[in-house]
Amino acid sequence: MEVAIAQDSDEIGRIAADLFEETIRSNPAAVLGLATGSSPLPLYGELIRRHREEGLSFASCRAFTLDEYVGLPLDHPERYRNFIEAEFERHVDFAEGTVQGPDGTASDLAAACAAYETAISDAGGVDIQILGIGSNGHIAFNEPGSSLASRTRAEVLTERTRDDNARFFDGDLSKVPELCVTQGLGTIMEARRIVLIATGTGKAEAVAHLVEGAVSARWPATILQHHADVTVILDDASSTALRLADYYRERWAARHRR
Ligand code: F6R
Repeated sequence: MEVAIAQDSDEIGRIAADLFEETIRSNPAAVLGLATGSSPLPLYGELIRRHREEGLSFASCRAFTLDEYVGLPLDHPERYRNFIEAEFERHVDFAEGTVQGPDGTASDLAAACAAYETAISDAGGVDIQILGIGSNGHIAFNEPGSSLASRTRAEVLTERTRDDNARFFDGDLSKVPELCVTQGLGTIMEARRIVLIATGTGKAEAVAHLVEGAVSARWPATILQHHADVTVILDDASSTALRLADYYRERWAARHRR
């Protein structure tokens, strides 16, 4: 697992965007895995800039989002599909219909989740996946106790996650859906390359488990220790509980010294 401790949000965006750009330049038809929430915003901002100023194109790419709330109306701004459209998709040049998300409005959620798995594998699998991490160690909406081999499915959100996300719903917990559909940990682990961004002291405990803890369903992100190509990009605040933070800084500097 590569660990980068960045100076600021701009550097976080640059490191993550370098990995995405490398993937897209080597395969213009790359399949991208997209996440919502605040963590990936520096990446999307930098990719949009590179699209506008440096000609980075998404015209032959496809993209799949990680998860979706169940029960939000189609036009709700916090619906994850709408979030991705507003924060990233509409600012670059994806072709019509090439960005997909799991369907949180389906009457048969199990069938919709199975169809989503099929769509990802029919596209050839995800080449590069961006992730955030919940303060409870979730990735996508795989809450503690999720099977480490889980696939796309409907799930129940923990109160902690609903509480963390209430900031997007006028601070009102009662407005945060209780159910979601989410790619599973087994699904995410099939992405060929994974980039995870975490910022702020609220993520420090989860980050310490992710990078240095025991692999356990209690901290679902720890499954990423079994993936061969993961880059974790942190700020100072989210790295404070890492015992080997100084070593990660030295290693990153040594590997990226020009
Ligand atoms: C979002 C997602 C979640 C978030 C996580 C962190 O698609 O899958 O796992 O990445 O809850 O959220 P933020 O980035 O808002 O702190």
